[in-house]
This record gives sequence, structure tokens and C-alpha cells, in this order.
Amino acid sequence: MSSNVRRGAWRTRFGFYLLAIGSACGLGNLWRFPYVVGENGGGAFVLIYVFMSLAIGAPMLINELIMGKTSRRSVLVATQRLSEKAGRGFRWAGRFSVILSIIVLSYYAVISGWVLHFLTQFLISFFSPPEIVTAKTNLAALMSNGWLQFMLASAHLLITIVVVVKGVQEGLEKFISYTMPLFATLVLLLVLRSFSLPSTPEVLRFLFYPDFSKLTWSSLNHAIGHVFFTLSVGFGTMVTFGSYMKEDDHAPTAGFRVTVVDTVISLIAVVMIFPLAFQASNVPLTDPALMFEVLPRYLLGIRGGTLFGLAFFVCLYMAALNASIGLLEVVVSNWVDVQKKMQRGPATWYSGLAALSFAILPALSSSVFKEVRLGGRSLIEALDSLLINWMLPLIALGILMAYNWGTTDKEKELNFVDKDKFVSYTMYPHWYFISRWVAPGVIILGLLMQVLDLFF
Ligand code: PHE
Ligand code: NA
Repeated sequence: MSSNVRRGAWRTRFGFYLLAIGSACGLGNLWRFPYVVGENGGGAFVLIYVFMSLAIGAPMLINELIMGKTSRRSVLVATQRLSEKAGRGFRWAGRFSVILSIIVLSYYAVISGWVLHFLTQFLISFFSPPEIVTAKTNLAALMSNGWLQFMLASAHLLITIVVVVKGVQEGLEKFISYTMPLFATLVLLLVLRSFSLPSTPEVLRFLFYPDFSKLTWSSLNHAIGHVFFTLSVGFGTMVTFGSYMKEDDHAPTAGFRVTVVDTVISLIAVVMIFPLAFQASNVPLTDPALMFEVLPRYLLGIRGGTLFGLAFFVCLYMAALNASIGLLEVVVSNWVDVQKKMQRGPATWYSGLAALSFAILPALSSSVFKEVRLGGRSLIEALDSLLINWMLPLIALGILMAYNWGTTDKEKELNFVDKDKFVSYTMYPHWYFISRWVAPGVIILGLLMQVLDLFF
């Protein structure tokens, strides 16, 4: 009981969904997904992504929720306990996932800083002639100014730290529950507008007509890595959230719903961004700056675009903040779980500052470290690839196998089947089979193909 108080006793079921969906839906959907789709050639990749999300992502998300719910602990302690049966080595899966969270937080903070930048630019454009803030020069200015990026990332991390330290998430969640519907409305309006552009038929063909010749050896793994990133699987986030669930909350239902919402949002995001991108350049853009390049420029060009853009970037920032809170929260909850003497306050500051000191690398990627090229990639892209295409699948696999081998079949069935829900009886064998055989097999296959890609 006392440990439940320490971890912040759980509130309403609606609150759980806000937290889990809030953590899942973020820059991964609106910023990362579109450019990864561009990079991997469009339709065929989108198809694989959706399939992987539902077939592999959802079961693994459910697994992590169950691990948290049954252990009432975070990923470190949960994997430690499972490793007694699964094998001592699996403790590393938990450890690495916490390290991954800190590093991803730092790089997420840099992109959140970009969002902050455009948010303030839209604000400024109310008071100055909009030509001054035309997006193109603006983005270039931001990209060439690494210290500005670092300052913005620091501001973002500071806000994140204060929210987590003050424990004002609940208040923030209320606020976010208002901004999310607004955001959805704005995005839908943009989609409608995008649809009226002359490039739309071509774009829809690019996005939804699967041309498998465009895939590379790495594409499968890129899809899997992105699925984990966008669903917050492999970071321990969902284990922590699972530990906050009530006894009678059904983890499989929750995990499935979170997956569906997140996937739908990603699909809407590409439908919104790509017509604008094609309009701007006629070739699918494949750069992390994609969204920041096409959206502000388009918005500043339409009537009422300044207000629209401001509202859009405020909402996008709230989504980014919410996801960052989730990342920091996991690190803190792990820390206070293993070190009983540690207080939440200092743990939050130390973790946040650790992320901040690391943020200097991605922040300076397009300026001071501009010349640094790793395998033809800029520093920030190389970091993204290392974290999300290599570390994340390995760690998610480790956590999955710890659960598979650390839990008996009887326990697995008890964890999954809800006697009130008929559908959970029928889904159980599928979930079991996927967790046990399909997911590990597909992850390993994806990684092996990516290794091959290094040589060909
Ligand atoms: N899933 C988030 C997104 O799509 C990113 C994230 C990963 C958030 C891990 C928390 C933990 O933007
Ligand atoms: Na997401």
C-alpha cells in the first residue's frame, strides 16, 4: 500500500487513457512518421507499418502493461523479478530501457524546442509583418543556430521537470483533455484543405499504393522500430503506466485501444503533411525538418493562417510536452523504485539535467557538428537511427523475452483473460502465439535484414 502511495495512487480509468494515449501520441506521429514514410518510399512501407502496429505492436504493448500491473513496479524491478526465472541476463533489458529513455528524452527535447520556436514565431507574427517570419529563412536560421536550439531544448526540459516535480500532471491532463479535441479539429481542417490541393491524387497514390520495389532491406526494421517508438514500447513507459492501473482494468483492452488511436493519428498526419510537401517540392521529402519546412510556410500563406498556426503549434507543443513527461516520469519511477531513500524531487531534477547535458549533441547537430557525417547521415539522424532502429528493437525484444520466459503459462492466462470479457478468451491464444513466436521472430528477422543492408 505504502508503495502505491509513493507511486501516486491511480485515479480514474479515463485518467489512465489520457496518460497512456497522451504518452503515445506525440512528435512520433506528426513529425517522425511522415519523414520515415518518405524515406522508405511510401505506400508499401505504410502498409507494413500498419500491419506491424496491430500484429506486433499491440500485443507487446499489452505485455508491458501486464508486467506493470502484476508487479506493481517499474520496468527495472519487474524485469529483475522475471529474470530470476528467465535468466539473469534479462536484467539488462530493464536497465538499458531506462538509459534509452534518458537519451531519447534529450533528443525529443531538441525537436520539442523546434516546436517552441515556431510557436513563438507565430506569436511574433501578430505584431510584425509576416514576411519577417517567413518560414523558409526562419527554419534555416534555427538550423544554423545550435545554441538557440539548445536553449529551446533547455526551456522545454525545464518545463517538463517542473511539471513532474510539482506533480501537477493531473491539472495538466485536464488542460490537455481540452487541447486534444481542438488539435483534432485543426488537423482535420488541414486535411480537408490539403485534399483540395492539385497534388492530392498523386500524394494518395504515393501513400497508399504499395510499390514494393521502393523498399530497402532495412524497411521492415524501420517499420518495427517506429512502431515501438510511436507506441512507447521498449522504454518501460507502459510498464510504469501498467503499474498505475486498477485491479479491474483490463490491460489487453487498454493496450489495443491505445494502439488503434495512435495508428489512426499517424495515418491522418501523413495525409495532412504530404500534400503540402508535394506542393512545395514535388519530391517526397525525407528529412527530419520536413514538417517544420512545409507546415509553417503553408500556414503563413493562407488567410487567418497566423492564428491557425499559433493554435496548431500550441496544441502540438502540448502533445510533445505530454510525451516528454511520460519519458521523464518513467526514469523517476524506476529510480525511486530501486532506491527507496531517493525522493521524487531530486530524482526528477537529476534525470532531467542528465537528459539536458546529453541534448547538446543533437542540438548542435546542424551547426557546430554540421561537418560530422556518420554513414552519410547528420549527427541527429545517426543518433535517431542508432536509438530507434538498433537499440529499441533489441531492448523491446529483451523485455518481451523476460516476460515470456519468466512467467508460467498459467500466470499468462490469468493475466490476460478477463472473465467478464468474452473476447479475451478468444484473443488469448493469438496473443500467446504472437508473443512467444511471431514477435521475436519478426524482430530478429528485421534486425538481420538491416545488418545485410550495411553490406549491400
Ligand atoms: N510515443 C511518443 C511519440 O510518438 C514518444 C515516446 C516514446 C514517449 C517513449 C514516451 C516514451 O511521440
Ligand atoms: Na506515437
